[in-house]
Amino acid sequence: MIRIYGFKNTKEAGVSAAKVIAEAIKSRENPTLGLATGSSPLDLYGALIDMYKNGELSFKNVKTVNLDEYVGLTPDHDQSYRYFMDFNLFSHIDILPENTNVPSGIAEDPKAECERYDRLVESLGGVDVQVIGIGNNGHIAFNEPSDSFTTGTNVVELTESTIDANSRFFAKREDVPTKAISMGIGQIMSAKKILLVANGKGKAEILEKALFGEVTPKVPASILRFAKDVVVFADDAALSVIDEKHPGAVIR
Ligand code: F6R
Repeated sequence: MIRIYGFKNTKEAGVSAAKVIAEAIKSRENPTLGLATGSSPLDLYGALIDMYKNGELSFKNVKTVNLDEYVGLTPDHDQSYRYFMDFNLFSHIDILPENTNVPSGIAEDPKAECERYDRLVESLGGVDVQVIGIGNNGHIAFNEPSDSFTTGTNVVELTESTIDANSRFFAKREDVPTKAISMGIGQIMSAKKILLVANGKGKAEILEKALFGEVTPKVPASILRFAKDVVVFADDAALSVIDEKHPGAVIR
């Protein structure tokens, strides 16, 4: 089941999304969160940091697994996803560094790293709440449009459209890695709850296609329609096409 919540701006969406995460943390002894990078979850992470600083939430018992990492970037590279997580969330809260997991982009054998990551997620008992964004091409994690849905962690060749989208963070387009290690669609789907965050007009078309169009691996996020429990937290701009084509679908 998918519930779509709309907000005036990304800050309000982030604050409400953070309450879903807080609830999952408070209601479990050893919660595991699945986390994403990119611009979409930044306000959510900001709201979680505020909750920690106000004494409302502790991350002492929380374990995290991130969705993906670029192949070839060291953890201290400022565009690596490990660096992103440390910089935007982990260094501001009381989570134990050893409880945070991001695939290694510099593993000698990336395939073996994928297997290690699958075993790790399994050993944590799966993911309680999985945060995801959606790419302009409908990807979730780095599972790009293709002829089939992926299952477990895999090494991905990034598409030109993803390299274009992500080149905004690098000095030159040529600096964007061409491969990544990504959790698979099957793994994401097995999370007990999936929290999709999307902001801005640029996501409006693809969000409507994913949530109301044909379920196809050409739009990887469309698979979410078969997930047990999906909540979407988005700003009005990202929901503009859904509002136009499916009046009343958004909860406000
Ligand atoms: C990030 C990830 C990606 C992003 C997506 C949207 O870990 O897996 O799927 O969620 O590319 O990126 P933003 O949020 O930057 O628009």
